[in-house]
Amino acid sequence: MVKAVVLGAAGGIGQPLALLLKANPLVTELGLYDIVNTPGVAADLSHIATPAKVEGYLPPDDGLKKVLTGADVVVIPAGVPRKPGMTRDDLFKINAGIVRDLATGIATAAPKAFVLVISNPVNSTVPIVAEVFKKHNVFDPKRLFGVTTLDVVRASTFVSEILNDLGLSKDIVVPVVGGHSGVTIVPLLSQSSHTLPSSLSTAQYDTLVNRIQFGGDEVVKAKDGAGSATLSMAYAGAEFAGKILRALKGEKGIIAPSYVSLLADTEGAAVLTKELGETVQFFSTPIELGTEGVVKINPLGKITEAEQTLIKAAIPELLKNIQTGVEFIAGAK
Ligand code: NAD
Ligand code: LMR
Repeated sequence: MVKAVVLGAAGGIGQPLALLLKANPLVTELGLYDIVNTPGVAADLSHIATPAKVEGYLPPDDGLKKVLTGADVVVIPAGVPRKPGMTRDDLFKINAGIVRDLATGIATAAPKAFVLVISNPVNSTVPIVAEVFKKHNVFDPKRLFGVTTLDVVRASTFVSEILNDLGLSKDIVVPVVGGHSGVTIVPLLSQSSHTLPSSLSTAQYDTLVNRIQFGGDEVVKAKDGAGSATLSMAYAGAEFAGKILRALKGEKGIIAPSYVSLLADTEGAAVLTKELGETVQFFSTPIELGTEGVVKINPLGKITEAEQTLIKAAIPELLKNIQTGVEFIAGAK
């Protein structure tokens, strides 16, 4: 029996993500929470012939506590999305408080749940959740994940476009490390499962890296004020949640990049820190999953000089973003 919960379930990501989780046979209970519309979304999804029993909750009558009770996996896409001209950091003012309050609910009603944070800016909202959990003495770094899967999905798609074969995209694996915004998104194209054409020029390589780093902007611009990526994010979120669900069921050897606390695996973290040449509290790298969450933080391994330069550019920004999240909770006292 596995209960999955979506917080922010009536939104642009929340609805299709809830649909994909309802379609996942590993989910037996699906709890939906939002400040609006969840009874309708739940009623709609409940007619789909899959095992999950669906329930929708709103804030009145302890809705957050009720939806979280018994939760094994909690996915958080609650919060405002970007409009053209905004950075993800511009969302911090509103989303930090939303994520803090939801994390407080999880700390009290579902402290053992695996928590998957989608709300932006991920580089800061994940530290916020960690700090809230620490305050409640329930922080288990192995169970907290920032969802960076969309960067991985984009990397696979864009590489398949360069290889002129979209059919390949589902098999292409490109590790994307660092964080989830602009220069903190570092694709390790030299480790792509499918080699890039040797004819790819430096300018073409730079364009590809830039497209992966700023893929979110492409969607924000095209949506022209109506928000950011929702459908591709729901797909990516369901991919990552699906891996978590399989790991929970006991499947071994599942690896996925995710933005995690380096306390989740101190041995792995020591190797990674040496590679980075800098101590960071959170970093996205391919992690191995198990029944207890993070089993292993994998090192970067062999990377090129160009990738080393990208990592160097990512770290100061990442450190700043992490600090912003930590200070938000510390300042609240
Ligand atoms: P949206 O506005 O369509 O949906 C957000 C939902 O959150 C709304 O239904 C809203 O009612 C709900 N909400 C607001 N406050 C809440 C609260 N206190 N409790 C519960 N629900 C609450 O936005 P969206 O397009 O679904 O994006 C959601 C977030 O995901 C944004 O912050 C966006 O930047 C982020 N995002 C992250 C990634 C990623 O790769 N990690 C990708 C895309 C979007
Ligand atoms: C994305 O990468 O698409 C999301 O983080 C949303 C955004 O603001 O770009």
